[in-house]
Amino acid sequence: ANGQIGIDYRPQSRFTPPKNWINDPNGLVYHDGEYHLFYQYNPFGNVWGHMSWGHAVSKDLLHWEHLPVAIPEFTDSDGKTTAIFSGGAVVDKGNRSGLCPAGSKDCLIALYTGNVTAGDKQLVQYQNLAYSADKGRTWKQYDKNPILDIGSKEFRDPNAFWYEPEQKWVMATVKATEHRAAFYSSTDLKNWTLMSHFGPVGDTSKVWECPGLMQVPVHTEAGQPTGRSKWVLFISAGFPQKDYVGTQYFVGDFDGKTFTLDPAAQPKPVPSANDYAGALVDYGKDYYAAVPYNNLPASQPGPVMLGWHNNWAYGNELPTTPFKGAMSLPRQITLRQTQDGLQLVQQPIEGVRTLRGAQTNRQAIQLTSQSQTLEKATDNAYELEVELKPGTAKRVGLKLAKGTNEETILQYTDGKLQLDRRRSGNVSFSPRFPSVEEAPLRPKNGVIKLRIFVDKSVVEVFANDGERVITDLIFPTETAGGIDIFAEEGSAEFVKLTRWALKPIRQ
Ligand code: FRU
Repeated sequence: ANGQIGIDYRPQSRFTPPKNWINDPNGLVYHDGEYHLFYQYNPFGNVWGHMSWGHAVSKDLLHWEHLPVAIPEFTDSDGKTTAIFSGGAVVDKGNRSGLCPAGSKDCLIALYTGNVTAGDKQLVQYQNLAYSADKGRTWKQYDKNPILDIGSKEFRDPNAFWYEPEQKWVMATVKATEHRAAFYSSTDLKNWTLMSHFGPVGDTSKVWECPGLMQVPVHTEAGQPTGRSKWVLFISAGFPQKDYVGTQYFVGDFDGKTFTLDPAAQPKPVPSANDYAGALVDYGKDYYAAVPYNNLPASQPGPVMLGWHNNWAYGNELPTTPFKGAMSLPRQITLRQTQDGLQLVQQPIEGVRTLRGAQTNRQAIQLTSQSQTLEKATDNAYELEVELKPGTAKRVGLKLAKGTNEETILQYTDGKLQLDRRRSGNVSFSPRFPSVEEAPLRPKNGVIKLRIFVDKSVVEVFANDGERVITDLIFPTETAGGIDIFAEEGSAEFVKLTRWALKPIRQ
């Protein structure tokens, strides 16, 4: 669990593999009392390669039980190797597909991209099916694979869900280099028909990956359900800063066949100039490939999504060993009516509150062009709720993981929330790592609300009840990190400062 210098970088409250490399969450599905988390996994090393589906299950989306590799990379007798790229999973209730043995109550179906290579040569990317009759523990490849082949090397990341109004399955995929999502339908999960395309639109500077289409409830500004919903399409691709990947979302309608952008519903302001039609899901660098859970139980309002804490700009270089990569806290998604239009709202699922340990409260603190130490040293594993009135201060905020020579600065200035990790610790493992993130943010009734998770190497910040999220990795090199608060060039007031130790999810 240690970095090269003996510091524990393993997050305490979110999923990490015991060892080796992970990337995207895959096959997120609830079935028979278990949340499944499959994930892009290299069983043989701590960098990307030999992509297979790793597997874990949980009863609460927080505490995970590690299971053996579910779907391994395989090589056929003709020497062609199929890597198991990203995809989704669904519950085929009553085994209507007939794929599982007769009499099976349900059949778990995984739809994934087969990335086929011969030696160093990539041959094709097509969609495959695998099925499990034993709660995802063992999987069989469908003998008529592939189920969808358009002869492309850039066709991937199927994600299917049940479309109730027409009693059919809908699957989103991407034609990555065409910047298009392609939607297919099926009644038996084996035969798929092309229905429509969406795109190119929005930021097309990077390939499109990991589509996620879902129906999202619309809430009022005060957070009350309106009874209405819109469809939201997540596409992992693009980021306002060159060479980084991020995730954008589009708000619109889906009639069972076609996803259409609703221009009136697009959130404003868009984060970068020049025809950026999509809006950013997370303004930090380390939330990618997020997809929603299928088949959620009534006890868990949705949609719920998990994302991968990393960025392809430096993914393989992260200074952690023997594992590399973590999943985010599960995020519940809603849309909120605001003066800027419909905003995506992401909040940690309610259950995350059960991870709250020992609590520290502060009286309100007024600062005028000064800083104050809140904590001298913590173990960098806590949740912090902050309400602050920026007042007249030019810059106001917190210094997290603050050591003698390092700090991660979270500050509000002039309509923006910024996270600056340029001096957060080890930033030299990649020239692309040191960075400053920025999200547009508006105080409400003069107040800014921050819900901050510092979890060893992860900083995940939910601002104004989830209207803005910034997620970044950090690698402090000093063993214990303090917390400072500050106001520069004016006065600000911290009206609420509550901190909870994060309870580790492992024993
Ligand atoms: C996204 C991605 C997917 C692909 C997988 C391969 O991070 O590039 O498009 O299926 O990773 O590991």
